[in-house]
Amino acid sequence: MTAEDQNDIDARIQTYYGEVFDEHVRLTTRSAQGPLEFQRTQEIIREHAPSGRVLDVGGGAGIHSRALMDAGYAVEMIDPVLRHVEQAQAVGVSAAVGDARSLAFEDDSFDAAILLGPLYHLASRDERVASLLESARVVRPGGVVLAAGLSRYVAFGAASLGRPVPSPIPGEWAALIADGTPSSGLRFPAGHFHTSEELAAEVADAGLDVIDVFGVEGPAGLLLESAGDVPNDVRDAALTVARAASAAPGIRDQSAHLLAVARVPA
Ligand SMILES: C[S@@+](CC[C@H](N)C(=O)[O-])C[C@H]1O[C@@H](n2cnc3c(N)ncnc32)[C@H](O)[C@@H]1O
Repeated sequence: MTAEDQNDIDARIQTYYGEVFDEHVRLTTRSAQGPLEFQRTQEIIREHAPSGRVLDVGGGAGIHSRALMDAGYAVEMIDPVLRHVEQAQAVGVSAAVGDARSLAFEDDSFDAAILLGPLYHLASRDERVASLLESARVVRPGGVVLAAGLSRYVAFGAASLGRPVPSPIPGEWAALIADGTPSSGLRFPAGHFHTSEELAAEVADAGLDVIDVFGVEGPAGLLLESAGDVPNDVRDAALTVARAASAAPGIRDQSAHLLAVARVPA
């Protein structure tokens, strides 16, 4: 992966989120998986960072930032996509254009940082670890960094959903499973897909003390993504399963999102 390749992904991020995909509806109305992802993510954030000043790095349309503000947190948000910054500002979030790799904030100035997006748009491990280091820099000692990855197993499931899986599996699909490399045919400007263990290792390499890696949506999330109208009792069941399986090795990777929780060493 060269710098030019990442430049290409960065340009595709601008087009994808700026013009093609409306991130504003992803967590709310687009599918039943969105509210499940939103609720579980908020639960994990609030359990591990119960109050204080939070930096939302790659905060998208500001849905998580706004909810944290409503719960009493002080929140700053950055995102490289101007449309996202404007959507967040429109709901009262203090948001600015910025990049996870270089944050315009003082050392130790937050109680927590959340990165719910940047890592899976960065193709090189060095840049992912550098971004984690940068978030760790702006969080005070003893504060918390929560960093999301996309599960490569669920990405494989999503790629094969609803169409026959060729045999033998195409080389690009095999690479996705083997080392998290995105297929070149993806509309989504992905940089990397993680396993839980790999995400934990990257967070540890940034000098953070890993508390755990949690699966966010659980094994039912992918089905909710494609199911259309989902009755409330099925949504409730999916939430119960997601909570129960969240920290279980072997099951947590069946969540679309993996959320690493780590502490900045004192
Ligand atoms: C799938 S969206 C998630 C948005 C929001 N955090 C959420 O959880 O709903 C991924 C976000 O990461 C942002 N992003 C991509 N590359 C980034 C980078 N290098 N630094 C910061 N944010 C980045 C995108 O602009 C987008 O808003």
